[in-house]
Amino acid sequence: MKNKSALLFLVLALASLLLGILFGLLASLQYINSDFLKEYIAFNKMRPFHVTTVVSWIILCAIGSIYFFITNLEKHTLYSQRLVKVHFMVFLLTGLGIYISFFLGKMEGREYLAYSPILTIPILLGWILFGINYFKTIRKKISEWPVYYWMWGTGIVFMIYHLCEAHLWVFPYFREHFIKDISVQWKSYGSFVGSWNMLVYGTAIYVMAKIKNDKVSAKNKTVFFFYFLGLTNLMFGWAHHTYLIPTQPWVRYVAYAISMTEWIVLGHIIYSWVKSLSKEQKDKYNMAYKFLKAADFWVFINIILALLFSIPAINYFTHGTHITVAHSMGTTIGINTTILLASLFFITQNISPNYKATPSFLTKNYYIFNISLFLFFCTLIYAGIKRSNWMYFSKDVPFSTMQDELHTTYIAFFVFGLCLVFSITSLSIVLLKRLKKALNGKYNFE
Ligand code: HEM
Repeated sequence: MKNKSALLFLVLALASLLLGILFGLLASLQYINSDFLKEYIAFNKMRPFHVTTVVSWIILCAIGSIYFFITNLEKHTLYSQRLVKVHFMVFLLTGLGIYISFFLGKMEGREYLAYSPILTIPILLGWILFGINYFKTIRKKISEWPVYYWMWGTGIVFMIYHLCEAHLWVFPYFREHFIKDISVQWKSYGSFVGSWNMLVYGTAIYVMAKIKNDKVSAKNKTVFFFYFLGLTNLMFGWAHHTYLIPTQPWVRYVAYAISMTEWIVLGHIIYSWVKSLSKEQKDKYNMAYKFLKAADFWVFINIILALLFSIPAINYFTHGTHITVAHSMGTTIGINTTILLASLFFITQNISPNYKATPSFLTKNYYIFNISLFLFFCTLIYAGIKRSNWMYFSKDVPFSTMQDELHTTYIAFFVFGLCLVFSITSLSIVLLKRLKKALNGKYNFE
């Protein structure tokens, strides 16, 4: 059955992506000149504008994809069309509320959820509506569920739980005890990311299974092993965020071991899938195939970085430097965004199979995206090493001198960021045009 509301989520996701990368670009200009736009949106505001908007891109695109897959491709009758519309409106209005909260300087939230905490209530409501609609729609034959149904369901349930947990600091019992407060805060953020990874990785496995036209592999032991590993990661992988907190050493070792395994298995699943495809299958959904292959490459790059900086002795020097930013952007752009772009190309190709699978314009932008992201990532690591050197090994060198020394690096970061923005914008415009045509009823998609 047709579900155009799913497309509304996807359009909103792409709009968030475009706006989010614009904020990122402006923030990178503030690295070069800290006075840039200072009177209107200083860096301490620009950063939450950027981070919240790009995180919204990830979440909205995953939600839109899931709604689309379960109704339009899996042909389930949606439990309630009205609930999807209410869900969409709640998220849209809350998004506007978050921007207003930032503009007014009401940023009493924490880190990645810097907006006024009251806005978490409608966000939770949206997730509950999504959960009701999802489970009521697919509730039959649970024993036959493919792995992606489990992953999406788990992602939704844990998202609700961890959003609540991330706000426990509002209670004095947590807020007034420093170590308890920091532990709970970082634990919840790690698990919050784990929850959206469940939605995104489930989407990757779904798209892979569909391109290969394979109903069996989404039910085999490897993918279910991956699911349980992801779940373990979601529950315990957070501990690598808390190395600085005095805790039992075994907690760190377990966290370190767990947080690496998930990526290794995901990398292996995508790698085996790429190798098993026929030329025809690769050609039919070529852009989706290409972006999933790119995700595999970025899994590999991020594993190398994470393997190194998850070693507690190294983590001590990298914590609070641009190396952490390289890790966050390397994973959210390199893995999450590539998988979601693959999902969008897969969806639009499904809506209208007449689209040429790989116009040269898209292929060019695919390469610009990956090359500029690689250089962007390397620049952040270089800046992180310089900063760590200043923090721990340079005595009496003022902060401003270190910043001056990094000036050229920041310019390089901006230039590579600009190329990244160019490629993402070009790809997004093509996708937006396709979605707009579908929304206007140009295609009678099923
Ligand atoms: C899909 C695109 C993007 C995603 C998903 C993304 C994601 C993120 C995330 C998660 C952070 C928080 C990092 C942390 O706290 O460790 C961040 C920070 C940042 N991003 Fe991005 N980003 C994207 C694109 C860009 C672009 C294109 C630029 C610049 C041209 C940019 C510039 C920045 C800057 C300057 C920061 C602040 C780093 C700091 O706190 O010093 N981002 N981004």
